[in-house]
Amino acid sequence: MSNTIQKNLDYKKYVVSSKLQYFKPHATKIQKTFAEEISYSLNRDSKFIDPKYFYDNKGSDLFKKICSLPEYYPTRTEISILKQLRDELPSYLDEHFRLVELGSGTSVKTRLILDILVKLQDTIEYFPIDISEILTESSEQLLKDYDRLHITGLIDTYEDGLKFLKTFDDKKNLIIFLGSSFGNFSPNDGYKFLQKINSTMKHGDLFLIGLDLVKDKQILESAYDDSQGVTAKFNLNILSRINDELDADFYLKNFSHYVIYNEEEQRIEMYLKSLVNQSVMVSKSNLLFNLEKDELILTEHSHKYKLSQISKLLHSTGFKIKHTWLDNNNHFSLTLASKN
Ligand code: AVJ
Repeated sequence: MSNTIQKNLDYKKYVVSSKLQYFKPHATKIQKTFAEEISYSLNRDSKFIDPKYFYDNKGSDLFKKICSLPEYYPTRTEISILKQLRDELPSYLDEHFRLVELGSGTSVKTRLILDILVKLQDTIEYFPIDISEILTESSEQLLKDYDRLHITGLIDTYEDGLKFLKTFDDKKNLIIFLGSSFGNFSPNDGYKFLQKINSTMKHGDLFLIGLDLVKDKQILESAYDDSQGVTAKFNLNILSRINDELDADFYLKNFSHYVIYNEEEQRIEMYLKSLVNQSVMVSKSNLLFNLEKDELILTEHSHKYKLSQISKLLHSTGFKIKHTWLDNNNHFSLTLASKN
């Protein structure tokens, strides 16, 4: 109990209306973690930037553009699968569920689930968790379209979001984690994260996860290296963000977007490639570091799965699979699971 109080002290609560409130960590905490993480992740031989830092306002906007690119099949495909759920999900929702979403973003896909819930329940509670401020806008947009909706949002990482949820109350939850965002985790971290979700769940809670499937290398690489260069902009924007927020001097013209599908590891690897020998200063991280020509900064791993791996992964982390839905081309999957 004292734990709950302690935890909520880390957040500032914003009450927007009787139907919308959200929690956000204090700004100083956010900036401090960003500066510290960057000072660690760029001050080593194999440099990386955590992909969660893509999503400032500009980055969230660019990601929204990515989602409707002709080459980026995941969003469109997952939406087609969500439409199949309209007739099939209700049989699993016999009681009143609150909808919890990890990585809610623009909440576009959320609407397809909300459309199902409004038919089953008098009131709908939605609990979006997202690292991006876009959560507040998306929530206000939703409230315009769903009049029986109540939203409590949390602007934070998935991990802290789950901790928050666990101590928040004991309502029944349908937790959704769409878009193959799970694919950013390394296999080991992903395993631990699923265990965390599982331990957050109560018996009777449900978990719906969208995962991208292994497919032709060509299709995968063009999905992350589109012809209009939107993904390249999205990737480079992370450097602008570091420039703006951490007082750094990345010169963007000295970097290029580089993508490769690693078949053995079953993952898209996205990098920023240094085009010259250069040194970069990140003032707020107290960091000055060198990059050689052709040196890579890893910005994202996006893992792809086989159906057999998905069922193994879920079973080994304490879940029981209720149903798996696929699109016609077997490009993407949605799996509904309960706590075993
Ligand atoms: C949000 C992590 C699911 O990996 O497909 C899209 C992010 N990066 N294009 C993905 C992304 C470049 C996306 N996830």
